[in-house]
Amino acid sequence: MEGVTEPCFRDLVLARNPPAALGGAFTEFARVVSVPLPRRALRAHLGPWRHPQPVGLQLMGSDVAAVAESARRAEEAGAPLVDLNFGCPAKGALRGCAGSALLDDPPRVEALVAACVRAVVRVPVTAKIRAGGADDRRLEELARAVEQGGASLLTVHCRTRVEAYADTADWERLRRAVRVVALPVCGNGGVARHADLARLRAETGCAYVMVGRAALGDPWVFSGHAATRAEAAAFLREYAERLRAHHGASTRMVAGRIKQLLAHWTAGGLCDDRAAWRRLADEALLARLASCGDELELAC
Ligand SMILES: Cc1cc2nc3c(=O)[nH]c(=O)nc-3n(C[C@H](O)[C@H](O)[C@H](O)COP(=O)(O)O)c2cc1C
Repeated sequence: MEGVTEPCFRDLVLARNPPAALGGAFTEFARVVSVPLPRRALRAHLGPWRHPQPVGLQLMGSDVAAVAESARRAEEAGAPLVDLNFGCPAKGALRGCAGSALLDDPPRVEALVAACVRAVVRVPVTAKIRAGGADDRRLEELARAVEQGGASLLTVHCRTRVEAYADTADWERLRRAVRVVALPVCGNGGVARHADLARLRAETGCAYVMVGRAALGDPWVFSGHAATRAEAAAFLREYAERLRAHHGASTRMVAGRIKQLLAHWTAGGLCDDRAAWRRLADEALLARLASCGDELELAC
């Protein structure tokens, strides 16, 4: 997820969930405009840490040649799979006719997937769509376009572009996608807790499940481990330390990232009043997190 799942966060989440529970992750989208992305930028998205689970490098763009060459470079840079984003509803993506703008143009979706499949040598190419743009009437056509392009996995976010990140999530749309393609489908949208993972698969026939915002509030949502207060505090402290060490992040940026997680945070019952934590000044927030750890260590 853009602005959140950079390498530090991903590494901490992947390390806390065994491969049987968390089969892989994706980078934040890497935006391809009219020229292929430089290898340095692709390597930065992948980050320095490796796990048994693959981390797919996600590309978002509409220029077929530039996206395909970026896919080739991503493979060269060590990406174990390349994913294409046809779901981002942000204004910037729409202005560039990328992300969810392409949901109105299934032939271009197919052309982008096919060009990336041809550009890479060994790694699989996967694609993520939404259920549609203004409505879900072209869902089946979009799913088939991804399959005909030669993708190895189709992720479907069950909301349309217009529905953005609405609270409701219509899983029937996932079932519709599963029915029309032979390739494995990964269902996404509206998973709030661990139990929803099995429920989504049972109700839709999806082979895999992708979790978005629930993982920001509970990094253990994949395994279902009920984190203690100490584990939850340690996660956030380690995240803060890594942001400083890996990105050279300032106090302001570190606190901003922690506050972004605290908007969703439920793990370990760490902060009963999330809004109060988020209102703290940057330094006060980080001090509270640090002392929260001390308290816990003393209590242990
Ligand atoms: C802050 C934020 C950033 C996101 N960035 C990306 C992204 O870079 N690539 C992507 O495929 N989806 C992105 N998404 C969408 C999520 O992956 C997911 O499809 C969406 O949140 C629905 O799943 P959920 O209901 O489990 O949250 C983002 C969502 C949020 C809230």
